[in-house]
Amino acid sequence: MTRHFLKDDDISPQEQAQIIASAIKLKSNRFADRSFEGPKSVALIFDKTSTRTRVSFSVGVSEMGGYPLLIDSQSSQLAKSESIADTARVLGRQVSQIMWRTFAQSNLEEMAQHAGVPVISGLSDDYHPCQLLADLQTITEHFGKTEGLKVAYVGDGANNIANSYLLAAAMAGMNVSIAAPTNYQPDEKVVARARELGTGEILVTSDPVEAVSGADIVTTDTWVSMGMEAEQSERISDLQDYRVDEKLFEKASSEAIFLHCLPAYRGNEVTAEVIDGKRSLVWQQAENRLHAQKALMSFLANND
Ligand code: CP
Ligand code: NVA
Repeated sequence: MTRHFLKDDDISPQEQAQIIASAIKLKSNRFADRSFEGPKSVALIFDKTSTRTRVSFSVGVSEMGGYPLLIDSQSSQLAKSESIADTARVLGRQVSQIMWRTFAQSNLEEMAQHAGVPVISGLSDDYHPCQLLADLQTITEHFGKTEGLKVAYVGDGANNIANSYLLAAAMAGMNVSIAAPTNYQPDEKVVARARELGTGEILVTSDPVEAVSGADIVTTDTWVSMGMEAEQSERISDLQDYRVDEKLFEKASSEAIFLHCLPAYRGNEVTAEVIDGKRSLVWQQAENRLHAQKALMSFLANND
């Protein structure tokens, strides 16, 4: 059966660990995996803007011997309302895999239902699972493990990154704390799923100090995700007390690291002092998108 990666728990915790281990290996030998030799093509479709996802998937497919077929959906017939199902049937007969950055999670599900080839989420409104593979790789490289560590996410606790942290970090055996104002907290179903997937503690609080206390990893994300631009000023005002600054970061473990999926808005969700500080691993994290996604594409290519 064709496997897809539309959200973090579409793979098992064992498969997640296997993909991260293979990402770390591929990082030291970038041309070792030639799963797309031919070249086979991989469609990379964008409904939203992107720097890291576009670059890392394009470079990754090339390094695996393949051809990255970049599609800006605004210039495709999807923009003129050709159906997702028909688009999937056309692409699936020509490309080996499809990566799609889109709005609704249901778009990805529909694409996966009709494509006949693996479909990967490059971010939806609900999840960003590829980002979490890169984050878990970065955490593993730094601490030598993920099990038993505590990650604190502060800010918009209801967005795609927070949801993916809940699922993927729980699967990796971590304790996850989310600090967000009550109307920015994650959906109860996602929290319940995280508790089902992991053995660590899952905490949702409106107190950033409680969440960050003793954390090994502190992370945040933009207060205004793509598609939410109309709420920009309201969100910036609502989230003022959820900025990761030095004072908050000090409540974490003295060995704690800072992560951010980027793009970052210095002065909003994080101060320059923290993101540009010694304990920030954001550039290593951004590079790891490349290695983690290559490992994922290889896994999907060889499990079809
Ligand atoms: N973190 C991330 O997905 O970055 P882009 O939006 O630049 O792809
Ligand atoms: N939450 C952000 C992540 C960007 C990579 C957004 O959806 O815009």
